[in-house]
Amino acid sequence: MHTFHLLQGLALAPVLVTANILIYSPPSQPALTYSITIPDTTTATDSGPIYLQISAPTTLQWASLGQGTQMDSANIFILYAASATEVTLSPRSSMDGGQSQPEYNPLANLTLLPGSGIDNGRMIANIRCMNCLSAWPTLSSTNSSSEYTLDPNGTSTAWFWASKSGPPVNSSDPAADLAMHDDKGTMQLDLSLAQFTSAESLGVLYNPFLEGSIVIS
Ligand code: HEM
Ligand SMILES: *[C@@H]1O[C@H](CO)[C@@H](O)[C@H](O)[C@H]1NC(C)=O
Ligand SMILES: *[C@@H]1O[C@H](CO)[C@@H](O)[C@H](O)[C@H]1NC(C)=O
Ligand SMILES: *[C@@H]1O[C@H](CO)[C@@H](O)[C@H](O)[C@H]1NC(C)=O
Ligand SMILES: *[C@@H]1O[C@H](CO)[C@@H](O)[C@H](O)[C@H]1NC(C)=O
Repeated sequence: MHTFHLLQGLALAPVLVTANILIYSPPSQPALTYSITIPDTTTATDSGPIYLQISAPTTLQWASLGQGTQMDSANIFILYAASATEVTLSPRSSMDGGQSQPEYNPLANLTLLPGSGIDNGRMIANIRCMNCLSAWPTLSSTNSSSEYTLDPNGTSTAWFWASKSGPPVNSSDPAADLAMHDDKGTMQLDLSLAQFTSAESLGVLYNPFLEGSIVIS
């Protein structure tokens, strides 16, 4: 995340956009929030970025968002502390049919955007994902990912989440060994509530969560 300071100028380019941000908070973890917003260019062309935010209290050791219905099916994002002020965002895929810890997947095309880090007892990851409309490729040819696809127009898209309470992981290793969840669940998100108009081209480090309007799911 240090490199963001060098590139900050890009993020300050005037992009006059108000994103519709869809927020989901698990009933059993009200302080944990997952947000999503999708540029209309992505929806129209079925390719391009989607934006995700995971915001978790530091009382959680890790918090995770999954695309699809279950562990074995697709793209998994895990957020944990790297230090007192920085976060690690670990993209993972299950390589054993969802039986154990998902493995770090370097083929996820993610950017951790400005505003990510730990402050005021919250871990925040603002994420731009360039290949989240389908299952990420995996390095293993034998245990390749599922047939997952995300419909950016979908009014009832499947997602899941999991979390583990406990002390901070304190690791910048995206392949850090994590203990199993102590809470988890599934949700359906109406992505028609998460669209925004991106008439101007969005900078690489554009963070829609800084200026969006909020819809609670
Ligand atoms: C960190 C290591 C992990 C281990 C060892 C692990 C292990 C397991 C096991 C054994 C189950 C089946 C038994 C049960 O339902 O409790 C399960 C279910 C589940 N896990 Fe994990 N898990 C891990 C991480 C994750 C992550 C990061 C997510 C992301 C959201 C996740 C989401 C789920 C969900 C939604 C289920 C219930 C549905 C299903 O079986 O796929 N898990 N996990
Ligand atoms: C989403 O809906 C719009 C309007 O109907 C359509 O033009 C676009 O192709 C759809 N996108 C996908 C990925 O189906
Ligand atoms: C993790 O970092 C926190 C500060 O953020 C520190 O208080 C704690 O002792 C560290 N834990 C380990 C196991 O290093
Ligand atoms: C591939 O998945 C199968 C079960 O789906 C599992 O038995 C096997 O250990 C996995 N192989 C690797 C390399 O993870
Ligand atoms: C990630 O996406 C960008 C933008 O589409 C592309 O230029 C880049 O090659 C991709 N990187 C990888 C590793 O796929």
